[in-house]
Amino acid sequence: MAKIIDGKAVSASVKAAVAQEVAALKEQGISVGLAVVIVGDDPASRIYVNNKKKACASCGIESFEYALSGDTTEEELLELVEKLNQDKKVNGILVQLPLPRQIDEHKVIEAISPKKDVDAFNAVNVGKIMIGDFDFLPCTPSGCMDLIDSTSVSVEGKRCVVIGRSNIVGKPMAMLLLHRNGTVTICHSRTKDLKEICRQADILVAAVGKPNFVTADMVKEGAVVIDVGMNRLENGKLCGDVDFEAVSQVAEWITPVPGGVGPMTIATLMRNTLTAAKIQNGLS
Ligand code: GUN
Repeated sequence: MAKIIDGKAVSASVKAAVAQEVAALKEQGISVGLAVVIVGDDPASRIYVNNKKKACASCGIESFEYALSGDTTEEELLELVEKLNQDKKVNGILVQLPLPRQIDEHKVIEAISPKKDVDAFNAVNVGKIMIGDFDFLPCTPSGCMDLIDSTSVSVEGKRCVVIGRSNIVGKPMAMLLLHRNGTVTICHSRTKDLKEICRQADILVAAVGKPNFVTADMVKEGAVVIDVGMNRLENGKLCGDVDFEAVSQVAEWITPVPGGVGPMTIATLMRNTLTAAKIQNGLS
């Protein structure tokens, strides 16, 4: 039976460390602030944004919410981003994705100052990650690395398989595993022999967006399984990409959903916002 990787506990310790540093900065007269922008009323995005605001409060980080209506134009959003780029009280800018159809997500991401891009989504920060010289790591993959580290399983030389190739999770996740000297394979919807490739993984990261996609026959005995999935079922229950019950019988370590990767994503966002504030104040 697999051991559970406790994302809530790991995230609590990351947030506690951030809170301590934020308090120390406050004593020097430096405040830390995050602007959170949400456009429209997607219920999942609303929950994520509320959780991010709560985390800010628990770390002593000021949050500034900008809730814009679903018919906001691209120009209006770009204007707000530019205003936040200039705002000294705002150290980090997070524009919650997805955005409504009339807005080009790419344009908005690129409009955020790289120094305030705490998601690490814009091309400058993605490029920095690629060459291994970065200020911020993207929140979800970085959180996954912390969870892997919490098991004490070393990535070095291990076969790592990432299922999913999104810019937000799959691609940067593969890069972070590569930085740790993992032997990395990225699988996606066109991959042939997916099951056989996954079965070779010592570390398997699922970021597919399909409930129970990873079944026990796709998992090697003793593997570390990280489930990035956040799928809402018809009955309202949250469910990952991994068939948790069955895969728990095969894996050595596994993340639950909820309580695994989700809380870590937010903890990393807090850490990135703190880093942004330190850099902007010449402290890092
Ligand atoms: N939507 C889903 N995940 C994320 C994330 O990590 N950052 C932002 N900005 N939007 C998201």
